[in-house]
Amino acid sequence: MRSRPPRSLSKRPWIWGLVAAAFSLGLLAGCDDKPAPKPEAKPSPSAMPAPSAAAATAAAVDGNAEHGKALMKEFECNRCHDGTGHEPMAMEKHCIHCHQDIMSGKFNAPATSLAKWRPNVEHYEDAPSFEGSEKRYRADWLVSFLSEPHDLRPGLVQSMPRLKLDKQQVADIAAYLTKDAKPGSGKDPLSGANLEKGRKLIEEKGCGSCHVMSGVPPFMTKPDPKTADENTRRGQALAPDLRWARDKFPAAHLIAWIKDPKSIKPDTRMPVTTLTNDEARDIAAYIFKAEPEPFKPKAIPERLPKLTRAVTYQEVFDKVFGKTCTHCHSNPDVARGDGGPGNTGGFGFKPRKLNMGSYSSLMSGMVDEKGERMSVFSPMKDGTPRIVAALLARQAEEAGKPNPDVRGMPLSLPALKPEEIQLVETWIAQGRPRE
Ligand code: HEC
Ligand code: HEC
Ligand code: HEC
Ligand code: HEC
Repeated sequence: MRSRPPRSLSKRPWIWGLVAAAFSLGLLAGCDDKPAPKPEAKPSPSAMPAPSAAAATAAAVDGNAEHGKALMKEFECNRCHDGTGHEPMAMEKHCIHCHQDIMSGKFNAPATSLAKWRPNVEHYEDAPSFEGSEKRYRADWLVSFLSEPHDLRPGLVQSMPRLKLDKQQVADIAAYLTKDAKPGSGKDPLSGANLEKGRKLIEEKGCGSCHVMSGVPPFMTKPDPKTADENTRRGQALAPDLRWARDKFPAAHLIAWIKDPKSIKPDTRMPVTTLTNDEARDIAAYIFKAEPEPFKPKAIPERLPKLTRAVTYQEVFDKVFGKTCTHCHSNPDVARGDGGPGNTGGFGFKPRKLNMGSYSSLMSGMVDEKGERMSVFSPMKDGTPRIVAALLARQAEEAGKPNPDVRGMPLSLPALKPEEIQLVETWIAQGRPRE
C-alpha cells in the first residue's frame, strides 16, 4: 500500500515550499467570453522577492471585480474555499465539506465505512476561507500566487491546485478579493519598531506553536499536532509560513491582525493574544523586516531506472492509480456521486473523461482539447509517456519549476515518490500487461 502522508508535521520539512519564480503566465486561455486582456493589465513580473513592505495593497492591477466574482463560480473556488461570495457547492461536490462531514460523523454512511475513510480524508479537511480578504491580501501577491501557486502552509498536505487561469482572469479575481481595500496612509507603520524585541515576543507569546518562518532560526515553540485540541490542531494546519507574509499581507492591517485577528477575519482559528500596540508593532516588524536566508526550493528527485522484475497492472493499481488518482478520475460510484474533476470536469477544466477505475477504462484513454480520444501513454517529444510526464511535472512544480506544457499530477497533492513513478514507468515499458 502506498504509505500515506502521516498527519505529523514532520512529513513536511520546515524549510520548503516553492518560489513562484519568474512565473509563466502563459497558461492557456480557458474562458472565451471574457474581454481580451488589456495591455496595461500586466501584473508585476514577480511579487517575490517582495516590493517594500510599505507598498500598500493597491498594486496597479487592472482587473474587473465583477468579472472576478463570476470567475470564482466558473472555476469552482467555492468547492474548496468559503467566503467566495457564492454559496458553497453542494456537499456531494465539495472537497472540504464532505471530508469534514466524514470526520465529524455527519456523513450518512455506516460507522465502519466512516472509520475506514477517516485516515484518508483528514488530509483534505481544510482550506483557508476568504473572509476579510480585502484586509489580508495585496492584489499584486494574489496575481503572483494565482498565476503560479506554491506551498504556503507546512502543516497542510494539500495545496492550491494549479488552475488554467490566464492573466486577465487572475487580475479580475485579485480585483474582486481586494475590492473594498482602502489605500494605506503612505506612512510606514513599522518605522522605528524593534525587531529583536519582536522576535522575543513571538517566542514568549507562543506564536511558534502554530507558525514557522522558514529562513530564520526556528522559534522556540514548535507545533506539536499530536497533543493539540481540535481548534489548535486545525489552526496549526492552516497557519501559513510567515516568510510569505511580507509579500501577501497589507502592512496597514498587520498590527491590527496580530493584536486581534478575529476583528479582521471572524472565522480564523488564530487566537487573540494580549499585546500592547508597541508589542504588536515590534512583532509585525520582525515578520516583515527580518532577513531570512534566501529561499531554498525543494530539489527535483532523481528519476530511477526501470525495474528488472515483472510489474502487473494490479500492483500499479494498488500502489498508485487506485489511491489518490481514482478519487478525481473514476466513475461516480467510486467518488461518492461525482466522477471527479479529472473525469467529468471541474475547477474550470473541461471533462477529460479519464477514468482510472479499471484496466479497460484506463486503456480507453482520455479526450483532448477538441474532444477526441487519445491515449494517456502516447509519448511526449522526449519519448516520456504522457501519464509519466504528468507525474514528473508534479515533482517539478514542487521544486518551483512548473512545466508550461504539462499539468502536474496528482493535482494539488504531494508528488509521487520516485519509486512509485518507477513502478508506473516499468509497467508501461513492459507493454502494460494486465496480469
Ligand atoms: C481543490 C480545492 C481548491 C480549489 C478548487 C481552489 N483552491 Fe485555493 N487553495 C486550496 C488550498 C488547499 C489552499 C491552501 C494552500 C496552502 O496553504 O499551501 C488554497 C489557497 C488559496 C489562496 C491563498 C489563501 C491564503 O490565505 O493563504 C488563494 C488566494 C486561493 N487559494 C484562491 C483560489 C481561487 C481564486 C480559486 C478559484 C479560482 C481557488 N483558490 C480554488 C484549495 C483550492
Ligand atoms: C461526497 C463525499 C466526498 C467528496 C465530495 C469528495 N471526497 Fe475526497 N474522499 C471521500 C471519501 C469517502 C474518501 C476516502 C476513500 C477511501 O478511503 O476509500 C476520500 C478520500 C480523498 C482523498 C484521499 C485518497 C487516498 O486514497 O489517499 C483525497 C486526496 C481526496 N478525497 C480529495 C478530494 C477532492 C480533491 C475532492 C473535490 C474534488 C473530494 N475529495 C471530494 C469523500 C469525498
Ligand atoms: C492556533 C494557531 C495559531 C497561533 C497560536 C498563532 N497563529 Fe497566526 N495564524 C494562524 C492561522 C490559522 C492563520 C491564517 C489565517 C486564517 O486563514 O485564518 C494565521 C495567520 C497569521 C498571519 C498572516 C499570515 C498570512 O500569510 O496570511 C500572521 C502575520 C500571523 N498569523 C502572526 C501570528 C503571531 C504574531 C502570533 C503570535 C502572537 C500568531 N500568529 C499565533 C494560526 C495561529
Ligand atoms: C484533485 C484531483 C486530481 C487528482 C488527485 C488527480 N488528477 Fe489527474 N487530472 C485532474 C484534472 C482536473 C485534470 C484535467 C487537467 C487539464 O485538462 O489540464 C487531470 C488530467 C490528468 C491527465 C491528463 C493530462 C494531460 O496531459 O492532458 C493525466 C494523465 C492525469 N490527470 C493523471 C493522473 C494520475 C496518474 C493521478 C494520480 C497519481 C491523478 N491524475 C490525480 C485532476 C486530478
